[in-house]
Amino acid sequence: MVLGNNERTMLRAMITEPQKVWNLEEILTSTGWGDQVFVAGAGKSLEEEGLVDIEEVHRNFVSLGQEGLKANQDGLLESRLWEWISLRDLEDRTMNALMTSKFDRSETGPGIGILKGLGVSIDSGNLIFSDSKAISKEISRRSEFINSLSEGPVDSSNLDDDLVAHFSSRSGLLEFENSVSRTWKLTKKGCSVEYSELSEVEMIGELTPKMLQNNSWKGAEFKPFDVSAPVPIPSGGRRHPMQSLIERIRSVFLEMGFSEIEGDYVQSAGWNMDALYIPQSHPARTMQDTFYLSDPEKVDVDEKYLDIWSKVHEYGHDTGSKGWGGYFNRDEAQKALLRTHTTVNTVKHIAENPGVPSRVFGIGRVFRQETIDRTHMPEFHQIEGIIHEPEASLPMLVTTLKTFYAKMGYPDVRVRPAYFPYTEPSAEVDILWRGEWLELGGSGIFRPEVTEPIGTEWPVCAWGMGLERLAMLVLGLDDIRQLYQPDLERLRKMPLI
Ligand code: PHE
Repeated sequence: MVLGNNERTMLRAMITEPQKVWNLEEILTSTGWGDQVFVAGAGKSLEEEGLVDIEEVHRNFVSLGQEGLKANQDGLLESRLWEWISLRDLEDRTMNALMTSKFDRSETGPGIGILKGLGVSIDSGNLIFSDSKAISKEISRRSEFINSLSEGPVDSSNLDDDLVAHFSSRSGLLEFENSVSRTWKLTKKGCSVEYSELSEVEMIGELTPKMLQNNSWKGAEFKPFDVSAPVPIPSGGRRHPMQSLIERIRSVFLEMGFSEIEGDYVQSAGWNMDALYIPQSHPARTMQDTFYLSDPEKVDVDEKYLDIWSKVHEYGHDTGSKGWGGYFNRDEAQKALLRTHTTVNTVKHIAENPGVPSRVFGIGRVFRQETIDRTHMPEFHQIEGIIHEPEASLPMLVTTLKTFYAKMGYPDVRVRPAYFPYTEPSAEVDILWRGEWLELGGSGIFRPEVTEPIGTEWPVCAWGMGLERLAMLVLGLDDIRQLYQPDLERLRKMPLI
């Protein structure tokens, strides 16, 4: 049996009281170690040697959540409602009175549900009940329970199971935390180890060239090396996972021969939409979907483009198209907004370099009026790109996207027919992930109504993909918000990209 120095230290400590069941704190104090990792590691090896028994106790702690803290301070909803009811005359205990009371709508709805559960019912708009004592009693029982958690987490085995179950079904009142605590105790064999065998030994942890030359390694004791032993995780800095992902995408496009372009968040509706032949009556242009700005309210657009977009939108100009018809509003085209997609950058790039073949990409933030939920945020990023050259084609577009996603680790890509006002043909791009096809973005060949006004007749392969969607796959997240919450613990644990 070869024990390492840590195992020797731990045994020396435990042998001072051979029958004792040791907890973590006691071992730390007695060994002088500053990190529980040493106890875990040495304890494990001693267990493997049959010298120590380890016992694990799993415990579940309950504490007050955000709502629970509020309830403890202001009273539980049922307790406040009950007080309100008790203070009113019989004929005044009505739903109408409740609806116009100090209680907010967000409280009266769930509140009525809770009261019903307690035995209050509604009869032609009146709140009625028979056993008010029982109701009061149950409410105090609940309030006392909440109060009993106000001092900090309590082991759930000391709590009333019924009430724990009741409050866990109400959102935000309770929080749960599992913990495992271990104890260590010497086995018979462990008790019989001689203290004198446990002195620190000089062990060789690393062979140096010098030792090899002078043969001093012969007969020496070597430190056993366990590559699977738990070690403290160094808490150094790291890049935010989103930033690493952006870097990786950037290097993939650069390696595929693309150059990077950028653009401003604030744009004119003209470049963001009219240049892309999005009709001025398109629903996505309304305030519900787009953030229009009041300062600046307007972004000037070169007359040259306003002229030509008017013609294209009204009757197709000389593109062979019939246009959208109606009247093109130049003021509308100069409204300032937060860009809703990064396609504004690529279309501008062509307008600025019409006769130059180009392959460019950009990764940028875009803004849309979205309600925040698991898969939506009002600010997100797109991975945009174009191939603008005489021989650009749909197969070239598909191959480029397939190559890109294969390099990112997703070799199965498919395209499906789609519609965008500015491309023809248009394609939706999906990738295969754990047996499911997930939609990642749109693509297509810009229509002549887009390309001709900006001075080119070459075909343009174009695409715009969601970055956050891809990030969720790469990082294994199921909620987009996790990407941007400043939860250092979680960010630190996210996979390296
Ligand atoms: N702009 C589109 C979007 O935001 C994506 C797209 C880009 C589609 C380029 C076709 C061509 O969803």
